[in-house]
Amino acid sequence: MSLLNEIDPLKQAALADLKAASDLAALEQTKGAWIGPHGKFTALLKRLGSLPNEEKPAAGKLINAAKAELEAALAERRGELELKAALPKAPTDFTLPGRRRLVGKLHPLTQVTDDIVRAFRKIGFVVADGPELEDDYHCFDSLNTPADHPARDAQDTFYIAPDAATVSASAGAGGQVEGGASPPLLRTHTSSVQIRVMEKQPPPIRILAPGRVYRRDNADATHNPTFHQIEGLYVDKGVTVGDLKGTVEFVFKELMGPDVQVRFRPHYFSYTEPSFEIDFSSALVKKMGKDWLEIAGCGMVHPQVFENVGYDPEMWTGWAFGFGIERIAMIRYGINDIRLFYENDLRFLRQF
Ligand code: DAH
Repeated sequence: MSLLNEIDPLKQAALADLKAASDLAALEQTKGAWIGPHGKFTALLKRLGSLPNEEKPAAGKLINAAKAELEAALAERRGELELKAALPKAPTDFTLPGRRRLVGKLHPLTQVTDDIVRAFRKIGFVVADGPELEDDYHCFDSLNTPADHPARDAQDTFYIAPDAATVSASAGAGGQVEGGASPPLLRTHTSSVQIRVMEKQPPPIRILAPGRVYRRDNADATHNPTFHQIEGLYVDKGVTVGDLKGTVEFVFKELMGPDVQVRFRPHYFSYTEPSFEIDFSSALVKKMGKDWLEIAGCGMVHPQVFENVGYDPEMWTGWAFGFGIERIAMIRYGINDIRLFYENDLRFLRQF
């Protein structure tokens, strides 16, 4: 068969092969087999030289046209196969709802804290902060808590091991260290922030101090060695117990709904005089089978505390309170075990 007659059948076979390639890898192989350096079509081209001179132009033209056709067919098939490769393997239903990304939420304790802060902001309070690692003075002495007070007992307070380089190792009972220095401790209440704030600024004062506190308690359904409190302090001229009670009632109604009742019971705190415990009642409390739940401590700031921070107790009056945040969250959400707040169990956390 003459070379000229071979061109068309070979081209047809090549075209059929290119069309039949089922994926991109197969297509590359087919390309090599026909128009690669050792391909069958390339071999045809190489034989062009052996033709008589008068036949060469016509044959060259035919071969080039055929080659262009093959290259176009190759490009077209490549386009088809690339599209096929890019399609999803499984059928896609574009009417299905999108996949939701899991969005984090605020911890229930943070939510309760934020709500308390929001309620107090409405009446002019601002948030203050203080260190969790405290000293005896700010946690106890300045709050008029004498050294023999049970709260000072090493059983209740976490003392931090004093730095061996600066303090002698012979720390006495109650965490007192030789030489008068006291080891740092983890604050047992947020009341220390009252002192920190009053030391820094003159009255009037309206602050809230939310934060973590620490006590040497064993964990059970109602205790945990670390928990959260929110402290409030109001100092101005002519402040009364009436202001305190009105404020507490306002905030609890904001927080827990309009059906709440608040009751003050006389109590003792060394930094307030008179002092009260705040009891709280609502439909939720009744549901828990109780009439009243104790929820906070409060009172009128003790004159000695004002003396300690350099305020004139003849001029200034004030009240303070401390709430346990877990306690409020437990009542609000009907939670019966405080430890649930700290376990990071998503089944629990997702409910808030
Ligand atoms: N610090 C108290 C406690 O941890 C709570 C408290 C009581 C705070 C009376 C106060 C207060 O500011 O006036 O139990």
